[in-house]
Amino acid sequence: MSNKKKPLVYITRKLPDPVETRMRELFEAELNIDDKPRSRAELVAAMERVDVLVPTVTDRIDAELIEAAGPQLKLIASFSNGIDHIDVEAAARKGITVTNTPNVLTEDTADMAMALILSVPRRLAEGARVLTDRKGDWEGWSPTWMLGHRIWGKRLGIIGMGRIGTAVARRAKAFGLAIHYHNRHRVSPQTEASLEATYWDSLDQMLARVDIVSVNCPSTPATYHLMSARRLALMQPTSYLVNTARGGVVDETALIKCIREGKIAGAGLDVFENEPVVNPKLLKLAHENKVVLLPHMSSATIEGRIDMGEKVIINIRTYFDGHRPPDRVLPRRA
Ligand code: DGY
Repeated sequence: MSNKKKPLVYITRKLPDPVETRMRELFEAELNIDDKPRSRAELVAAMERVDVLVPTVTDRIDAELIEAAGPQLKLIASFSNGIDHIDVEAAARKGITVTNTPNVLTEDTADMAMALILSVPRRLAEGARVLTDRKGDWEGWSPTWMLGHRIWGKRLGIIGMGRIGTAVARRAKAFGLAIHYHNRHRVSPQTEASLEATYWDSLDQMLARVDIVSVNCPSTPATYHLMSARRLALMQPTSYLVNTARGGVVDETALIKCIREGKIAGAGLDVFENEPVVNPKLLKLAHENKVVLLPHMSSATIEGRIDMGEKVIINIRTYFDGHRPPDRVLPRRA
């Protein structure tokens, strides 16, 4: 690539310093040092002139925006695993290649899913607040104080047994949970055996039988509100829901109602339907210690973000070297 003109690459958000340094070396990189989210007008203007757009989950790259792109825009190399913010079909129609950054945030996301699985039944956030809110004024241990619920021996139902779902299952098995899962396809007999996992073809039936539900499927039109009011009502009153996938997979209004009415014991959520806005009713439930809320930070490790940046760089370089980038995302089959 050294003798060739460097591609003009527009990066929508601040990335870790080592990634930005490398991008500057390799490309004509337009960075966003201030990390101020780009407006739609700024995105339109960029797409009219740059060769590569590097958006992330906070940008909405829809069909209208893609239509407005100039003929020089060849690649949308997203700094993200999920690609629900990009209209991949519209990009394909326009001959624009789309890539993402799979694999490198699997383990970090699974760690946080596990933390959320523990957090509500074991009253983790509530316990931490006892000391800080009371400024150290704590009466001390008592046999009947701060009792949560054991997770060892309980049944975990994983929705979506892809990379992250499987990584959650590995951790949960080590914590003594029995693994149940629902997926479009059954995983290999070897994976099932190593996880001692039970496959449920029917999501409805699984929901009625597990103690904790972990949402790990991608956000697609087919998974929008997969956890609908009807399905949430199938869960047991002692059960918990954990979501580290995308807010839209769960009907948030119905979830709030179920928890309020005691139809579900609680939830641990890292993602929300209208990010960055969080439903005030969820915040109220958090104050009542019914839910633990995190600000979409499951994959937020510096190591993971650098790995993501490296993937973006490899995808761009491979494309401009005339090859198929390793993380090309194809339009979904109808
Ligand atoms: C992604 O990359 O899709 C993640 O949601 C970021 O945490």
